[in-house]
Amino acid sequence: MNRVDGKVALVTGGARGIGGETARQLAEAGASVAITDLLEKEGLDLAAEINDTGGTAIFFNHDVTSASDWERIIAEIDQRFGQLDILVNNAGVWSRGVIEETSEEDFDRLCAVNLKGVFLGTKYAIGSMKNRSAGADSGSIINLSSTAGLVGSATSAVYSMTKGGVRLFTKSTAIEVRARGYNIRCNSVHPGATESPMQDDILATSNMSPEEIKTFIKNRNLLGRYGKPIDIANAILFLASNDSAFMTGSEVVVDGGYTAR
Ligand SMILES: NC(=O)c1ccc[n+]([C@@H]2O[C@H](COP(=O)([O-])OP(=O)(O)OC[C@H]3O[C@@H](n4cnc5c(N)ncnc54)[C@H](O)[C@@H]3O)[C@@H](O)[C@H]2O)c1
Repeated sequence: MNRVDGKVALVTGGARGIGGETARQLAEAGASVAITDLLEKEGLDLAAEINDTGGTAIFFNHDVTSASDWERIIAEIDQRFGQLDILVNNAGVWSRGVIEETSEEDFDRLCAVNLKGVFLGTKYAIGSMKNRSAGADSGSIINLSSTAGLVGSATSAVYSMTKGGVRLFTKSTAIEVRARGYNIRCNSVHPGATESPMQDDILATSNMSPEEIKTFIKNRNLLGRYGKPIDIANAILFLASNDSAFMTGSEVVVDGGYTAR
């Protein structure tokens, strides 16, 4: 189950958090993994950890908002590995702020990373994935949205706006690539609150005491805990593998039941 032997994967924002665990799981399941991030030291360390434990990983310094970075990295992957099979558009940024107090700079930053980054990744990945024949395994593009792309919130409307955009961009990508005859699938993953450096920042800026945070986490969803990166990575690995061969344009919610009520 969930094997990706011989496949080539690229995980953006793959140096830490959900992306880091995804890189580990893809490598353990047999893929060669390109980890890309702005965080060079963390990315190089993770690639070394994977290589030292029998996997195959390479790190690229990469700003997902830069078209020339994408062009360079996809070309290098094509040259080294033949083609890209799996793209995980994971890099993302979050910001707390009510609409009246959100600056244009913050708005532009969130849109650049969370929307333009996903658009550019998809654009360049399609170029590498589109020539696979109908009978071969599909290329798989997996976009990290959020429960914030499904339901609203009182504290981060612009983040929700970007993650809602990722949700529908995913569905349109799934439709468009089939209309153009490409053997590519595209799905979105919607994590609920998950332990990571981003989530640390969310809690640190919440003005809650440590005791209040504990109660908040316990009451957050039906399962009474935050997600762990492995919970999300498992869903991503499934969408990357042939076990999800009949899934495209889907939204996979991994939120401990947060959006069930
Ligand atoms: N942690 C959560 O609770 C949660 C919930 C729902 C969705 N998500 C989404 O999951 C994804 C991963 O989140 P995480 O919690 O692991 O966050 P994180 O902050 O721990 O990791 C995000 C990574 O993206 C990288 N990154 C940021 N801007 C970049 C850029 N311009 N180019 C390349 N890399 C860049 C960061 O350096 C970092 O390594 C994000 O898209 C996030 O929005 C997270």
